[in-house]
Amino acid sequence: MSLATKRSLYKEKLAFMKRTTKSLEIFEKASKSIPIGVNSNIRARLSPYPIYVDRALGNRLWDADGNEYLDYQLGFGVLMTGHNHPNLVKAVKERLDKGGITYGAEPIDCYEVAEEITRRFKLDMVRFQCTGTEATLWAVRIARAYTGREKVIKFEGCYHGTNDYLFVSYYPPLAPTKPMRVPHCLGMPEGAWKKTLVARFNDLNSVEEILRKDGDDIACIIVEPVAMNMGVIPPEKGFLEGLRKLSNEYGALLIFDEIKTGVKLAYGGATEYFNVTPDMVTLGKAIGGGFPISAVVGKREIMELIGPGKVVHAGTFNANHICITAAKVTLKEILTPSVYQSARSLSEELAKGYEEIFEDAGIEAKVSNVGVNGHIYPGISKVKDYRDYLKQDSEMWWSWAYAMMNRGIIFEVLTADDQWTISVQHTKEDIERTLETFKEVVRGE
Ligand SMILES: Cc1ncc(COP(=O)(O)O)c(C=O)c1O
Repeated sequence: MSLATKRSLYKEKLAFMKRTTKSLEIFEKASKSIPIGVNSNIRARLSPYPIYVDRALGNRLWDADGNEYLDYQLGFGVLMTGHNHPNLVKAVKERLDKGGITYGAEPIDCYEVAEEITRRFKLDMVRFQCTGTEATLWAVRIARAYTGREKVIKFEGCYHGTNDYLFVSYYPPLAPTKPMRVPHCLGMPEGAWKKTLVARFNDLNSVEEILRKDGDDIACIIVEPVAMNMGVIPPEKGFLEGLRKLSNEYGALLIFDEIKTGVKLAYGGATEYFNVTPDMVTLGKAIGGGFPISAVVGKREIMELIGPGKVVHAGTFNANHICITAAKVTLKEILTPSVYQSARSLSEELAKGYEEIFEDAGIEAKVSNVGVNGHIYPGISKVKDYRDYLKQDSEMWWSWAYAMMNRGIIFEVLTADDQWTISVQHTKEDIERTLETFKEVVRGE
């Protein structure tokens, strides 16, 4: 880290601490009963303590100290609807007034959401859960049941939630040639994570090498079609098509983990955007407009393995009536085909604006934008995989993140490996204000 970056990070952190004294008080209280004061470790990446949120509306969020932020974090990329979209609030209130949260039986309109999803993703059947981690766990389990094989291929730096099969090589140390296979967390049994083999994103040779050796025992290849847990790394031309071909050739299922791209990248997600249809898709985050609902989607012959005495998929809160109501409104009324172009245009405008600022200031930085998501990689000019991503100057990114927060903008998810999201409630004025503010930050004003 350069001295100038160090100085600016220090200065902005001090300013942040002056503005967030109530968050500090809450942090001190919360840390007594909640490990590190948060319920998801990533929330504690903001240091020396996280912010605690009082409320949010539209594209704005207010913290415990009453600081207002223009929000591009949007619940870790969940809220392409924006916070509390009026249609969503109305529908959920009506559902509560009518009566009914969860029954231990199916809500009457559950299949309507399933049909909407199968239409969008050109697959046949859906099962709902609450979180992305559950969705990827089930997708892999179903793939194992279908193929009768045990091993899984994932990609270095990709994240698929915290289940024991897939929380592997998420932030691995770098082995010089091949990716290293490492569990990301204490407490993961070897029997689970050792079945997961790791290839390099955007590198079909590394996939084929594994398949040549272990092909007979590979149940599935799981991939984030756009790698969005190391910024925003699009697939190179031919990569997803190549995975489709290789998985067919070796009899493994191809799973697109679309928990981030899902209904944000396009109406039919990455599947539509890149015109490659996998065997299964996992969805989460955006599909519920902020309510916890996830889905495993797949071809009929695969999904029909779910049933008594076969794949026993179950969950108390699966498809509860509140989440189904939220998903129905989100998918049928808010994230309709007509909203994608305008949200994408705003994201492109933001990305272009950042690029111009860097060019004028003579700062090296890669701005990567796909659909409504983007990330700034300071200090590098290209990124195609985890190894490139690690070269970004994350301290510089953090100094900008604090500086933007001190000026009322959460410019990306508050961790240097994530991205901004544009919601249907962001406006052209928001983009202009963000770029003006960023210009000041870069100039050190
Ligand atoms: C691609 C991907 N898959 C799975 C997950 C896990 O989802 P959840 O946090 O809902 O368990 C995430 C979370 O960020 C994700 O980005």
